Amino acid sequence: MAINELCLTWAATDDDLVQLTEPPRLQPPTTAVRASWLAAERADCEEQGSSTELLERAEADFGALVAVRQGTPFWWGVPTTILWYVSGEHYLGELVIRHDLTPELARSGGHIGYSIAPQWRRQGHATRMLAAGLAECRRIGLRRVLLTCRFDNEPSRRVILANGGVPDGRADGKDRFWISLDEHRSLRE
Ligand SMILES: CC(C)(COP(=O)(O)OP(=O)(O)OC[C@H]1O[C@@H](n2cnc3c(N)ncnc32)[C@H](O)[C@@H]1OP(=O)(O)O)[C@@H](O)C(=O)NCCC(=O)NCCS
Repeated sequence: MAINELCLTWAATDDDLVQLTEPPRLQPPTTAVRASWLAAERADCEEQGSSTELLERAEADFGALVAVRQGTPFWWGVPTTILWYVSGEHYLGELVIRHDLTPELARSGGHIGYSIAPQWRRQGHATRMLAAGLAECRRIGLRRVLLTCRFDNEPSRRVILANGGVPDGRADGKDRFWISLDEHRSLRE
């Protein structure tokens, strides 16, 4: 995709415009995007009305927040890779890859979770970020991945379907989808 197709703008306020000058890429968490990560987390807390505890901890010591997300932390009871979708100094979103499934994750949760910062939504970023995440899953050695999303999360459903998700019922109020990475290679690369 040409870079100029990705030079997208958004406006948080009338005088706060951001333009991307390079295509976003998945990369390990980095302190280089501190300001935009904090802005994203702040916007997410406001949108959800959720706790600002993580935001406050990050403001106090962003290096520590990054450090625990690097490498392969053991989260959800399985080895996990955490990747950030970044363009220059701009943090756009996060994608987590769980290398394995516990019985709970096999029912709902699955291998992959993701979110795009509220400021960057509805520009196709999640769809492209998941495509890039599937390539990472293949590198990790996964042959097919399970994704689940709440039955009423239409944006996420569309992201999964656009990346070849095949429906596999519903559990715990979440729709389940499998993506075969062998098939995905021929579709996306
Ligand atoms: C779900 C989420 C990642 C989508 O991110 P995004 O970057 O806005 O997604 P995209 O721009 O790639 O859009 C994907 C599709 O959803 C549609 N869409 C996006 N937001 C929408 C909305 N609020 N209402 C209806 N449709 C929407 C887009 O039009 C697009 O549809 P298309 O493929 O038919 O053109 C984002 O909304 C988010 O982070 N939500 C909170 C966390 C979350 O729900 N994560 C997923 C958990 S399973």
